[in-house]
Amino acid sequence: MNFTIPETSKLRDKAFTFGVATASFQIEGASTADGRCESIWDRFCATPGKVLNRDNGEPACDHYRRLEQDLDLIKSLGVDAYRFSIAWPRIEPSPNMWNEAGFAFYERLVDGLIARGIKPYATLYHWDLPQYLEDRGGWINRETAYKFARYADRVSARLGDRVASYATFNEPWCSAFLGYRFGVHAPGLKSHRLGFQAAHHLLLAHGLAIPAMRQNAPQAQHGIVLNVTPSYAQSDSADDQWAAAFADDENTHTYLQPLLQRRYPSRVFDRHPDWAPTQLASDLAIIAAPIDFLGINYYTRSVVKKASTGDYTNVPQDGAKTDIGWAIYPTALTQLLVDLKTRYSNLPPIFITENGAADNTGLVDGAVHDMMRTDYYQQHLNAVHQAIEEGVDIRGYFAWSLMDNFEWAEGYSQRFGIVHVDYQTQVRTLKTSGKTWQIFLAER
Ligand code: FCB
Repeated sequence: MNFTIPETSKLRDKAFTFGVATASFQIEGASTADGRCESIWDRFCATPGKVLNRDNGEPACDHYRRLEQDLDLIKSLGVDAYRFSIAWPRIEPSPNMWNEAGFAFYERLVDGLIARGIKPYATLYHWDLPQYLEDRGGWINRETAYKFARYADRVSARLGDRVASYATFNEPWCSAFLGYRFGVHAPGLKSHRLGFQAAHHLLLAHGLAIPAMRQNAPQAQHGIVLNVTPSYAQSDSADDQWAAAFADDENTHTYLQPLLQRRYPSRVFDRHPDWAPTQLASDLAIIAAPIDFLGINYYTRSVVKKASTGDYTNVPQDGAKTDIGWAIYPTALTQLLVDLKTRYSNLPPIFITENGAADNTGLVDGAVHDMMRTDYYQQHLNAVHQAIEEGVDIRGYFAWSLMDNFEWAEGYSQRFGIVHVDYQTQVRTLKTSGKTWQIFLAER
């Protein structure tokens, strides 16, 4: 099989970066190796009732111990870049203790990629906060933002321009809202007020970190990655239209407007003054530090209506879904990208830093025919192509994920990889989707 992409598409241009993505906690395992400290996800997994089947980060894909083999696997795909995250608990396992073994692991990773002709795209924070920081309030505590900036300084000083692209945060919405507002991710708190406070401190941490990162790695690109699930109104009624606009402000523009326009969307805090975070007058100027790229993670859309109590509710939809229950709706990706361009005159170049599907098709006779995932990629490549045609500056696309891994509160029940992982034997098997990527990438 191959993806069908128009001959003249920019997606066929070698300047367009294709990659695969992972995150430290989801693949590494080795959670006590070489001095790594406990993270909030280790603690959360150990708390009964939080993660499906009480799964945890051990051994995940045992990637920490199988690094060389996995680098060869990445190379075999023919990708231009590999997006991974760095585990803060390996780098600073106790306050102000900078762990040489932690730096050494990521140095081997980065140098191993470069030796294979693959560009390293590093994310500094993909949710694995050291537990000792959570013990002092985590992202509710303003101090954590300064601690993050120091950590980002150390890592970027060490890896420097060997890393092609640095993202401060992956999906601060998830860290703040799933972690502190809705309680479904670590650390599991449930408060609107704390959710928005955590969001503010994550954004502040981003802004505080960027200047030193730039100084340490002047040739690299620096930015941040947001997850966006666009909200569609269930009907044309003014109420439902309002609900969709409110939901987008709450979930997307609460993050994007401070970054690009130095302000929070007024709709949310006008309606809920008690949700507004405590901040200093200078914070928004720090948060809006110029960035070189914006990463967008896109999986699905939602449909909402005005709620009888509260603001809005999600309306379940019929139609195609992936195995995790997320609607397959590629045109929302095109519309989202075009909307962002219209709405933000200073929108930086975009990378689709994650896109993919949970397709739990298993191994049969040594092969995984994951046709739903393969088709999902085809449809979303079409959507990205279309957005480029409509004038959006999109520079790259990363498939989530390189391989099956620990899917947070869903444990190992959901498989997102283009490579199958047998967690018992740790054997990796390229799926049909992975083979399709291989053929497409080789033919560019
Ligand atoms: C995103 C996360 C990533 C992965 C995918 C399925 O929200 O960034 O770690 O779990 O969802």
